[in-house]
Amino acid sequence: MMKEHTRVKMTQMNYDTARPAAENPLKVEDISLRDGHQSLFATRGRTEDMIPVAERMDEIGFWAVEVWGGATFDTMHRFLGEDPWQRLRTLKRYFKNTPFSMLLRGQNLVGYRNYADDVAKLFVKKTVDNGLEIFRTFDALNDYRNFETVVPVIKECGAHFQGCICYTLTEPRLGGEVYNLDYYIKKAKELEDMGADSICVKDMAGLMAPYDAFALVSALKEHVKPLIHLHSHFTSGMSAMTHLKAVEAGVDIIDTCLTPYAYRTSHAALEPLVMTLLGTSRDTGFDIKALADINEILEKEVMPKYKHLLDDTKVSLIDINVLLHQTPGGMLSNLVNQLREMDSLDKIDQVYKELPRVRKELGQVPLVTPTSQIVGTQTVNNVLFDTKEERYKMVSGQVKDLCYGLYGKTSVPIDKEVQKKALKGYPRGEEPISCRPAQVLEPELEKARAEIGDLAADDEDLLLYALFPVTGKKYLKQKYGREQVPDSLKPITLEDVKKQDALIKKAKAGELVEKPAFEKTENTRVFTVFVEGEAFEVGVEEQGGSPVITHAGPAGASPSVPPQPASGARELKSASPAAPAQPADLSPDVKPAPAPAAADTKGTPIKAPMPGMVIKYEKKVGDTVDEGETIVVIEAMKMENALPAPVAGVVAAIHFDTGDSVAKDDVLAVISPA
Ligand code: CO
Repeated sequence: MMKEHTRVKMTQMNYDTARPAAENPLKVEDISLRDGHQSLFATRGRTEDMIPVAERMDEIGFWAVEVWGGATFDTMHRFLGEDPWQRLRTLKRYFKNTPFSMLLRGQNLVGYRNYADDVAKLFVKKTVDNGLEIFRTFDALNDYRNFETVVPVIKECGAHFQGCICYTLTEPRLGGEVYNLDYYIKKAKELEDMGADSICVKDMAGLMAPYDAFALVSALKEHVKPLIHLHSHFTSGMSAMTHLKAVEAGVDIIDTCLTPYAYRTSHAALEPLVMTLLGTSRDTGFDIKALADINEILEKEVMPKYKHLLDDTKVSLIDINVLLHQTPGGMLSNLVNQLREMDSLDKIDQVYKELPRVRKELGQVPLVTPTSQIVGTQTVNNVLFDTKEERYKMVSGQVKDLCYGLYGKTSVPIDKEVQKKALKGYPRGEEPISCRPAQVLEPELEKARAEIGDLAADDEDLLLYALFPVTGKKYLKQKYGREQVPDSLKPITLEDVKKQDALIKKAKAGELVEKPAFEKTENTRVFTVFVEGEAFEVGVEEQGGSPVITHAGPAGASPSVPPQPASGARELKSASPAAPAQPADLSPDVKPAPAPAAADTKGTPIKAPMPGMVIKYEKKVGDTVDEGETIVVIEAMKMENALPAPVAGVVAAIHFDTGDSVAKDDVLAVISPA
């Protein structure tokens, strides 16, 4: 139990004086700049918005700050036009005292699959070179053979190896045969034997109940020597209580976020914990006023730029569903988005029902990146594409890899039937492996070096490409000026935010009236076009030849006119006169690359079953293919789906390129009879 210091005087609420040093101060890692914005703002935090508080944060006395890893590496180069390596170097200039921590996905590094050993080794080395000191290392299956390559490099570089246990449950109160107290003690001992400098229990879905935390931390403190660190998300609403019970049980380090980055699917805030422990034997010693100053800067100068990313569809701050079906918040929003893109949001209840079943069949895996995406996406695939007669009709490439053993060993064996079906025709073989996964992976670095050539100026560039070949290459072209940085990647300023707010205020007050600057005729067809989620109204005039765009403006600015189903009306996307008449479509979504006219090629089309990005075509025009052979691989929700030829024949047309975005039902290729 914690002891209270009776000497603390707070008559004038002066927290800085008369505060004796605690006997065993709780260590705190701040994770606002990684997990905080990853959990609340889709990892969109920009380096420039971390700088205003960096020096002040450095003075608080954190055990560490988490600034890198997890989804940051992917998101930065893909959506922010930022070099992830540069963030480390930049922040290092401001954090002179506090060590940097990152979330390393074991052999998955910062990606979604196991990379070859040569890539993993170079990645860890370059990460240390760029200023990283603490590697929080986890494996989604808690299969520590996936640590065997990175840990020796972490140690050789003189960095701190924090071994992680992903926390999950099969039954409440740590019950059941799989994820019980014995399991966690066994895992902690494995980590200790690997030389862990500290051990983190990673409760990514906020499932850990306060009294379970007490039991778990007490047991770990009893059985292993390394420092015990708790990472417990707020999602279900328990984590502040869980933190306190863990502190009472003697936990050494706790993860929290600064208030503006806290709660919801993120973590409980630091400041209430500081006040809770004030004057006790576990007092953090942190200056509450200094924390309040940081919060004010974040609230005024930073948060306005991000609040539009906050999920404000719900009033509740917590999600008790996670306790019922273990779907973490981040995964839930992914599932909802995925269903929405497929116009199937009504199937969400079916997804909830199917999810525990898929999880069990795939080896009762913990749900954390990448297994949360693998299980979640496969569940959606099952709900959307399965028939009464056949389950697992569309198996993602990653599920096949999991069934093969490429992610490691699952806690319980994968369902034999599912495994057999998934591995039918699997290129590496139909018999699953049981060795350390990376043992079957060929070295990847030299191949990547040859492919990327002089576009990679250094090893950091090379690694970016090796980890993310499609988006990484795109980013490198932007970085070195070979391609323009799209406006959508550029930061918004506080000025932009003010202008937007003023516009919204005007609109709400009914003062925003714009007269349509065009005359509609009987030939005018009006479309609502969505650009980046914003609706624009576009009028198209039929004048015998090609359609002529007569006007374009924000939707809602003029009274809506029903589309004219005029004869010969053409779809906006395909202006080719040869295109057949289409029924008037109210909302052609023009966000993805426009599909080329597909109708001039006769044959059987292969359509995108879901919106996504083309990863690669396995075949080229003119190739003869058998029925069932993979023609194209598309990525949707980070999972790869191989699309087979529906019939035998010859590839007559290919309509997209690697890296192109495609909408549902876009024709990706056409197979004509041989
Ligand atoms: Co987390």
